[in-house]
Amino acid sequence: MNSGKDDLDIYKIEENQSNEQYFFDNNTIRQLADLAAGCTACLCTPSVGEALINSGRRDVFVFDTDGRLVNLYPEGQFWLYDLQRGLHSHASDANTKELIARFQHQFNTVIFDPPFSTDIAIVARNINAFLTWEYNEGNSVYVAYPRAGLDKLNELLMEYGIYGQEHPNIEINYVNPPEHYKPGAKKKISLLWFKRV
Ligand SMILES: C[S@@+](CC[C@H](N)C(=O)[O-])C[C@H]1O[C@@H](n2cnc3c(N)ncnc32)[C@H](O)[C@@H]1O
Repeated sequence: MNSGKDDLDIYKIEENQSNEQYFFDNNTIRQLADLAAGCTACLCTPSVGEALINSGRRDVFVFDTDGRLVNLYPEGQFWLYDLQRGLHSHASDANTKELIARFQHQFNTVIFDPPFSTDIAIVARNINAFLTWEYNEGNSVYVAYPRAGLDKLNELLMEYGIYGQEHPNIEINYVNPPEHYKPGAKKKISLLWFKRV
């Protein structure tokens, strides 16, 4: 049987499901990696980051709270990150200040899979804070998220001039999906696609 995995090292790391860590299957990783145009942030998507960086991309940066991941990436391409006190925040610790100085509004593409329990307002603030201010047709944030959350995210993102829709043809699948999001379950994770308008 096809386990949906390939040889990425991330699959050797045990999913920390108490930290809502669920890795994408291989097909999903490849499709998301194909969306990465220009300087790209893999926010809570370490598997996609590994695939892109393994292909030689130096303009891809991974942001995640899991310190076990650091050795999967070349120095400078993995950053310990907390969604709660991230690029959108006013936290004054040295780590947050450095992150803001280097990365706030720097990305043409953001690929984001927030933990399921993340406050939706925090998801919205991170979307805005990573995405470049530059208006360009190609600049996009892709978020794996319940379709039911799209209207609320659009309401929250209106003040930043960001608008999203469901991506028409990318399906999100996990190797070990949580019960609520198994294929055929009522709840569905979609790929939401945001741009500045
Ligand atoms: C739903 S998983 C997404 C993993 C993704 N599907 C992949 O295959 O790369 C959520 C990710 O967010 C990370 N995470 C959990 N809490 C976080 C936080 N407060 N700040 C930043 N990252 C966090 C987890 O370590 C995990 O990698």
